[in-house]
Amino acid sequence: MKVAVLKETTPGERRVALVPDGVKTLTKKSFQVVVQVGAGADAGFTDADYEREGATLAPDPSSALAGAEIVLKVQPPSLQEVQALARGQVLVCSLQPLARLDVVRALRDAGVTTMAMDLMPRITRAQTMDILSSQATVAGYKAVLLGANALWKFLPMLTTAAGTIRPAKALVLGAGVAGLQALATLRRLGAQMLAFDVRPAVKEQVESLGAKFLEMELSQDLEDASGYAKELSKDQHERELELIAGAIKDMDLVITTAQIPGKKAPLLVTRAMVESMRPGSVIVDLASETGGNCELTRPGETVVHKGVQILGPVNLPSSLPYHASQMFSRNLVTFVLEMTNKEGGLNLDWGNEVLAGVCVTHQGEVRHGPTKEALA
Ligand code: NAI
Repeated sequence: MKVAVLKETTPGERRVALVPDGVKTLTKKSFQVVVQVGAGADAGFTDADYEREGATLAPDPSSALAGAEIVLKVQPPSLQEVQALARGQVLVCSLQPLARLDVVRALRDAGVTTMAMDLMPRITRAQTMDILSSQATVAGYKAVLLGANALWKFLPMLTTAAGTIRPAKALVLGAGVAGLQALATLRRLGAQMLAFDVRPAVKEQVESLGAKFLEMELSQDLEDASGYAKELSKDQHERELELIAGAIKDMDLVITTAQIPGKKAPLLVTRAMVESMRPGSVIVDLASETGGNCELTRPGETVVHKGVQILGPVNLPSSLPYHASQMFSRNLVTFVLEMTNKEGGLNLDWGNEVLAGVCVTHQGEVRHGPTKEALA
């Protein structure tokens, strides 16, 4: 079976879907891997690295795609890239289907089988294939470094001949995968940490990382069956804002990561809250691409409001391309093995909840319920 790896074309994207180590795993299992020349260059993997692990190089996308059964990418394809795909090819990438209905339509009409890795069920068995988790880990780590870099203060406590420096205070809003990694990184850098999430289940995880958990009385469970947060009622949201307002004025660094699947990110930091913070404080809003957790966030920009810097970074995983690619690649290799059998043939068993969960288009049809509804 032939697997093709394409060079990313989305502006600013430096990751690659398969790293040389992934080539090694697949070729050992008798896959033939073809990599477009330069595919890994921006992430630190040379063509020679790929060849050494058994890949064949292809000078352009069309020669990489010729005869390939499986195509690996990081970002969703452009409409032009879809045209280059052949009927029956299996495309594995991050897709955000609801935000890219035009691309889904084109993939469906082209007869491509599309596996959206961002739809991976959040079940224990699928953790090794979960690109949302692996890339959120990168984002949570990098958010702290960006914040530390912008801050006018040290993060750790320092005892020096020039006096003692008190540790900076950091608040993490949303303690999912990115938020927990942000806490782990803040801990390594010595900040004093506070965290909040609407899912009470994370309190223990937060505390095990050495942070304090901000508690809010909740009249109902705000975690849905798949572990995601539910949207708050108006009254709950008001109480949440009060709670955050009480804590935020004392903070030096705030990292926000709160998301509700399929919805605009919840507003957690208002303009008034920003104005209550000291000049030189920093907010890093990881939800900037879905509307932002802070009222003043602008995606891809740094806003300075009364001395407070609000960073709205986009595609943070791409800014740490080597390890982000390595983790993405590991997720994809496990998935490729999941959808093939020992003889190296495709095994698209729709009774397998992993395959059924991520498949968006197959044989001219849209299989993902919410996307199908949106297209209708
Ligand atoms: P996410 O990116 O959807 O959201 C980030 C965090 O924001 C979540 O912890 C969420 O509870 C929180 N949040 C949402 N609304 C909020 C609000 N109004 N105020 C404060 N916080 C708010 O979450 P992520 O990181 O993708 O994790 C989602 C769930 O999936 C979690 O339960 C996590 O434990 C679970 N999970 C399961 C995995 C598996 O078993 N394969 C792998 C990774 C995550």
